[in-house]
Amino acid sequence: MTDTRGEPPPATTNLGDPMDLAATLSELRARATTEAAAASSPEALGAVEADLVGPRSPIAELRRGLGSLDPSERAAAGRAIQEAAAAIQETIAGRRDELEAAARAARIAAEAIDVTLDYRTLRVGGLHLIQQVIDEVSEIFVGLGYKVAEGPEAELSWYNFDALNTPPDHPGRLESDTMYLDYGSAEDEMLLRAHTSPIQARYMEQHPPPVYIVAPGKAYRNDTIDATHLPVFHQIEGLAVDEAITFSDLKGTLAEFARQYFGPKTKVRMRPHYFPFTEPSAELDVSCFNCDGGSSACRVCKGKGWLEMLGCGMVDPNVFVAVGYDPDQVSGFAFGVGVERLAMARHGIENMRMFIENDLRFLTQFPG
Ligand code: DAH
Repeated sequence: MTDTRGEPPPATTNLGDPMDLAATLSELRARATTEAAAASSPEALGAVEADLVGPRSPIAELRRGLGSLDPSERAAAGRAIQEAAAAIQETIAGRRDELEAAARAARIAAEAIDVTLDYRTLRVGGLHLIQQVIDEVSEIFVGLGYKVAEGPEAELSWYNFDALNTPPDHPGRLESDTMYLDYGSAEDEMLLRAHTSPIQARYMEQHPPPVYIVAPGKAYRNDTIDATHLPVFHQIEGLAVDEAITFSDLKGTLAEFARQYFGPKTKVRMRPHYFPFTEPSAELDVSCFNCDGGSSACRVCKGKGWLEMLGCGMVDPNVFVAVGYDPDQVSGFAFGVGVERLAMARHGIENMRMFIENDLRFLTQFPG
């Protein structure tokens, strides 16, 4: 503390004169009120506080002067100074609260999130229904012990036709049916595979028996788009080759598949058919899951009670020879099922175009 002994009290204030002291103090309180109100930041307010009640302020100076007063006057003067100092502090504290509240309000306003604002939603996509069916069918067969195989979409004529015992004059070889990429002999002629069956031949060439595979993928045909045809569609090929596979294995396997895919009450029936690569060959129908095979008003089976589902048969010995298997050692069955058809049957979809239009009103009905 500065040594003020011997110094006169503040020149302008006669500490011993209560009136004079009161005037000085009330002037200081008035300054506090106006200067605090004018301070627009905590720093500016701190400066006002230091000016009025800090160690070098008039209040501090007045307090220092008390020591030189007559003890009889000292108590009253000290109390007056103390009261004024407290009032000034209170004014400053009030202003500090105001400034802090304003700062807080400004920060909240700056950080506020307008929850009424529209924002761009990211839609989560899903697998296309066709892929869902491929996955589901593959899983059913994986559950029966099958592996999943794949093959090229740009295929040699050899695998698409010749290895599959398809005669040179088969109508499927015509350009009106099959899309060719490059003409030539069977060994170098390229086409877009017309079915997934060539995967059978490729797989057997690479793997010794036993073979249990399903092979999903795209197939291509020179068809015009309509309600039941697409030039690019999907099939799942199945092949089982082992030492003593019989026709009843074929029927039992497909019946189990039909029950898992369409429901436990599903029945199957087989009708004789022709495919170059199987002998005997058949088409498999499943009982209509929608009307249980009974209603003439059913829109799924059109009252027929049965849905045509797939082609199948016992692998022709000529196919085994083409891939290097011994037809006296092994036997097998094969089948090929249209994925679009499986999806249409299950969901009552009447127009194949739905699968390629990418209309979200259609796609979102099958979120997967
Ligand atoms: N590849 C035939 C088609 O596209 C379907 C098929 C029928 C595949 C009988 C087979 C089968 O493996 O054995 O129509």
